[in-house]
Amino acid sequence: MAAPAEYSFERYLAAKRAIDDRSLNLHVWQALLAALPAVRPLQVLEIGAGIGTMLDRLHAWSFPAELDYTGIDADAGVVEQARARHKLPQPGINFEAIDLDGMIARERSGRKWHVLIAHAFMDLVDAERVLPGMLRLLHPGGLLYLTLNFDGVTTLLPVLDAELDARLERIYHQTMDQRVVRGRRAGHSRTGRQLLMLLPAAGVTLLASGSSDWVVHATPSSYPDDAEYFLHYIIHTMQGALAGNPQVSSAELDAWAAQRHGQAANQALVYVAHQLDFLGQAPQ
Ligand SMILES: C[S@@+](CC[C@H](N)C(=O)[O-])C[C@H]1O[C@@H](n2cnc3c(N)ncnc32)[C@H](O)[C@@H]1O
Repeated sequence: MAAPAEYSFERYLAAKRAIDDRSLNLHVWQALLAALPAVRPLQVLEIGAGIGTMLDRLHAWSFPAELDYTGIDADAGVVEQARARHKLPQPGINFEAIDLDGMIARERSGRKWHVLIAHAFMDLVDAERVLPGMLRLLHPGGLLYLTLNFDGVTTLLPVLDAELDARLERIYHQTMDQRVVRGRRAGHSRTGRQLLMLLPAAGVTLLASGSSDWVVHATPSSYPDDAEYFLHYIIHTMQGALAGNPQVSSAELDAWAAQRHGQAANQALVYVAHQLDFLGQAPQ
């Protein structure tokens, strides 16, 4: 497959599912299952749920079936996809287009959940700012399952040009650190390690943690599932984030992207992103 002419966020999220399945930290997942309260149905709220692949995973990975699940996302388009993929209406499952701040404000003295999930999400927001509001969405002693929190390593192999590779990684991470959404700081390239400090500071007891790195390569001669599309999407995202940055010329960036897309098309690109998973418990 050559680099796609157009990119679909929904297809990226669908391709990401199998990669996430291999990456999620199983120790943290087992700790979540062991810590679940006995109450049924379990009330689960997922923030930044995308097209709902975590809900599919809950079903596939022996999470209690008696579930009252709400998935929210700020992007109405992906919420529509999530509803269509899960053939809603369906009892106990709800996807809603609302952002985290809106949800926290609306439920200030409203609903509470037993488990709050945020998967590939906390690195997109100001974690320190949103954590107290997230905790207010939980019952006392409720569980926070925060997964795939990016933690400052993006490696693409084989090396093209060691200096350029290192510079692009550094400025790509800077774009995450400097990102502003609707006038507010949003995200950090070291969210994973920051959460190790921020969660206890917010009163959360850390029950389990571990790494959930994406490690994507051909197995052995071609990529599994739709991983090639996933890689093209990552290169495209990096190129978009770096475009116009004074630390890299557009000629350098275009040549880099063309080479990386070529490596992906030849099943030769290897990609590693360092990420961390956490299970925390809100104060009782
Ligand atoms: C990287 S995607 C991950 C989606 C899904 N968790 C997955 O892994 O397939 C992050 C999602 O968070 C959503 N999002 C970003 N900021 C948000 C916010 N403040 N409130 C709610 N959703 C948000 C985006 O629209 C996007 O769908």
